[in-house]
Amino acid sequence: MDMVFRGGTVVTSHARFPADVYVKGEKIAAIGTDLTVPEGTKTIDATGKLVLPGAIDAHTHLEFPFNGTTSADDYFAGTRAAACGGVTMVFDFVTQRKGQGIREAVQPRDALCAPKACIDYSFHVALTDLTPAVLEEFADAAAAGLPSFKLYMVYKKDGLMMNDADIVAALERSKETGTLIAVHAENPDVIDRNIDIFRAKGKLTPWYHYKSRPEAVEAEADIRAIHWAKAVGAPLYIVHLANDEGMKAVRAAVNEGYPIYAETCPQYLHFTCDVYKRDDGRNFICSPPMKGQASQDALWEGLKEGYIRTVATDHCPFTQAQKDWGKDDFTKVPNGCMGVENLYPYLLSEATRGRIPYEKVVEVCAENPAKIFGCTEKGALVPGKDADIVLYDPTIPFTITNDKMHSDCDYTIWEGTELSGYITETYSRGKLVFEDGTFVGEKGWGKFVKCAPRKV
Ligand code: URP
Ligand code: ZN
Repeated sequence: MDMVFRGGTVVTSHARFPADVYVKGEKIAAIGTDLTVPEGTKTIDATGKLVLPGAIDAHTHLEFPFNGTTSADDYFAGTRAAACGGVTMVFDFVTQRKGQGIREAVQPRDALCAPKACIDYSFHVALTDLTPAVLEEFADAAAAGLPSFKLYMVYKKDGLMMNDADIVAALERSKETGTLIAVHAENPDVIDRNIDIFRAKGKLTPWYHYKSRPEAVEAEADIRAIHWAKAVGAPLYIVHLANDEGMKAVRAAVNEGYPIYAETCPQYLHFTCDVYKRDDGRNFICSPPMKGQASQDALWEGLKEGYIRTVATDHCPFTQAQKDWGKDDFTKVPNGCMGVENLYPYLLSEATRGRIPYEKVVEVCAENPAKIFGCTEKGALVPGKDADIVLYDPTIPFTITNDKMHSDCDYTIWEGTELSGYITETYSRGKLVFEDGTFVGEKGWGKFVKCAPRKV
């Protein structure tokens, strides 16, 4: 049914203003004050609320085969949790197996996802076998709506790592095809050496996950990837940036005019490496790990000043039983943390508390991911775009507890975190999918979003 949101404050990446939003079918049809709408249009009272574009989580791992197991949220549970956190589109990572083509890798994952997704989705493809045929396929993959590829600079022993020659080849081909290369930047050789040293000394508590992958391990790879992107003249997207020196390198490259896009995640903005000293430290094991306070401060500065272009979650939850595999040995803990339901509420709460403007949250959670990844119908409240709309009440106090979350995981690293304000409704292409704490969406509603490549 067509609807009009009245009485709310519309937030864009640049402004906040009182306006009505008229939705016709699945699209935003008009925005303005005292809009005249056809008879029979449903009125939604948004008085006292912010009216926001749905967030785009550019980094999730749903039913993700990894570290000898599979992440705890399947495409249904993960997108249900997303909808309940104001996320109206997720990008999931597909891992290319050796010998596979890009579209060949995506096809079975799309077949798994399509009947389960409650919100719209697309894929980034993590390339592990960069053959000439795969490089050639960049153009056809982009034409099929898949213009973004990730290279793991890490996970050497898992057979996922891409070397510097691969990085250069992928960057060169991305420049020719308008595609975008993303990197997970950490130095695998140094990590493996550190792990060997700690194992020999019996140092296997979660703290040594951080100590084996400290700031310098991530920074070296950030700097190396930026170096090659600059040398090739191609854009680069750095996923889950979490360290101070890497942030400095991004800042310098951007100031020199290079298109280096940095993503960070809420867990790096909120937690420090001190979590690895906790009894439940294994639940926080993800890669890269949370870093020290100086890194967290640098990320906040980078976010405020526009050097962090997106905030996404790297949502990759593992159950308590899965995490417990590494109770006595951090190297056996599956790497990954949850966050898809916490991203928008956490950052909006920080905005309510005055740390950043609401406009910045819309920019990094909706508008920038849409622009960077070519989601032309998404990311902003603009006539003609999809009616992906979130209502947010800044006056609601909310304490995160796992029983209020909509993931299939049996705990949350965010347990007990107090927020100022919370999301009350999420609409996916005009369909109500979350209302006052309850998921009201539908399995299979979500559609694959064909992303547009950059113009070359
Ligand atoms: O620890 C993490 N981040 N797990 C998911 C895989 C990855 O590295 O992104
Ligand atoms: Zn990831």
